[in-house]
Amino acid sequence: MALAHAAGLLACPRCGEGLTLDADTATCPSGHAYDIARQGYLNLLGGPQPANADTAAMVEARGRVLADVYGDVVALVANAVAATAAAVVVDVGAGTGQYLAAALDRMPDAVGIASDVSVAAARRAARAHDRLASVVADTWRGLPVRSGVAQAVCCVFAPRNAAEFARVLSPGGRLVVVTPEAGHLASVRASYGLIDLDPDKDERLAQALGGLFELVDSHRLTTAVDATADQVADVIAMGPNAFHSAPVTESARLEIDVRCRTYLRLEDRAGSDHDLPDREPSEDRG
Ligand SMILES: C[S@@+](CC[C@H](N)C(=O)[O-])C[C@H]1O[C@@H](n2cnc3c(N)ncnc32)[C@H](O)[C@@H]1O
Ligand SMILES: [Zn+2]
Repeated sequence: MALAHAAGLLACPRCGEGLTLDADTATCPSGHAYDIARQGYLNLLGGPQPANADTAAMVEARGRVLADVYGDVVALVANAVAATAAAVVVDVGAGTGQYLAAALDRMPDAVGIASDVSVAAARRAARAHDRLASVVADTWRGLPVRSGVAQAVCCVFAPRNAAEFARVLSPGGRLVVVTPEAGHLASVRASYGLIDLDPDKDERLAQALGGLFELVDSHRLTTAVDATADQVADVIAMGPNAFHSAPVTESARLEIDVRCRTYLRLEDRAGSDHDLPDREPSEDRG
């Protein structure tokens, strides 16, 4: 079971102590217990998922887009994560787990933890790679990962909890953050009236990470992909516009415009007095 790779790495979200895994349960020394689903993921929410969690249909649409349309983005992220040479990588808001799986393919000895608040996403991520452990957890309630056990954290178009990223990273650890740039999916956004990108996101990102992380690398990927009408429909269906846009009947040229930044964890401040990060209102629209 891929989850077994995370033995010794996971923490109880209620008390922070280490979790011990057996065939169908994870338990902490304080007696908190969580079910391991037969599909191989561990649900640490301790209650129902939020109403706005990605549905199975959204996750499947995202899976097809990553496989057939976002290949260059997946390669960009996987290369950035592999460049950290981490032994343990945590992907926060991992969705389908495809980015983490592609990184693990380039890191033959590494172990990955995919964390997402959506049960449908965790179910899919559990089968994304045989060295990937999939957990359901809410980034804002603290990552279910022991302090200092990871050498890399990545966060692709998902909510960022900077203090938690710093806490789970070991000294010298790296954070890989991927965000959309202004031109990302611009034509489809205009044609179908999709939610706009936040124009202040770079400022928010810098503010949220400041004091805990130092930027060490930044790459912008700008390209375009010819997409069929079904692929355009998937791009819409995988995100927050899933239920609100007009039906798609035409193929389109999709602009890809994203930035991948790598940060170094600043050692003197990590996990100290910065435990109330600026909470960014929502994930980026990837
Ligand atoms: C735009 S999707 C990106 C998914 C994946 N990183 C990718 O790019 O394919 C945002 C993801 O963040 C997850 N998410 C949203 N809020 C979250 C939270 N509070 N805690 C954990 N995951 C969250 C969603 O379920 C979704 O899978
Ligand atoms: Zn506990």
